[in-house]
Amino acid sequence: MNFLRPVILRAVFCGSRGPPAGATLTPCAFYSSVLSGVQERTLVALKPDGVQRRLVGDVIKRFEQRGFKLVGMKLLQASEVILAEHYHDLRRKPFYSSLIRYMASGPVVVMVWEGHNVVRSSRLMVGDTDSAQAKPGTVRGDFSVHISRNVIHASDSVEVAEREIGLWFHVSELVSWDNADQSNLYQV
Ligand code: PPS
Repeated sequence: MNFLRPVILRAVFCGSRGPPAGATLTPCAFYSSVLSGVQERTLVALKPDGVQRRLVGDVIKRFEQRGFKLVGMKLLQASEVILAEHYHDLRRKPFYSSLIRYMASGPVVVMVWEGHNVVRSSRLMVGDTDSAQAKPGTVRGDFSVHISRNVIHASDSVEVAEREIGLWFHVSELVSWDNADQSNLYQV
């Protein structure tokens, strides 16, 4: 019956004829805007230095506290093949070889997070690529010591996120789940 929920909610907030003309901040408009962004997903990866420094839990905590939903996660030793694909656009950069070596130097944790504007929000949460520029409160601003050891990766656009998620995850490894009824969480 979950597939009926958007239809019912839209009917409750918007009525059978949809949003009223010119409405901006009605419950209907709010509901529609939330609904339109809710399926956005992004790829976030703890790089080998992030895993070695035991930062996996901290990063997950930040994304959960922000209200995003974890729909995929795995720990793996990345092959040079997948890394070459992932960083294909950087292949002519002077740091490309050392970046691939570093990314293959130990396990990474790749995750898929879902939520409204999650791509843009996660880039802000991750912080500037260069640790010297990364603001305190961001993952890199709090933990990164150098641009070449910057702890974490996050997709930089919705299109890139789709490509990266497809590269690192088989569709069967992603789990779509609904928020539970809160009253059922603490009683059996
Ligand atoms: S660039 O040069 O504008 O393409 O760089 P940027 O878009 O900021 O970063 C792209 C990815 O390259 C990584 N990077 C580096 N790695 C190692 N050494 C150096 N000097 C370096 N500069 C950039 C950067 O962390 C980005 O990787 P991800 O995985 O997206 O964080």
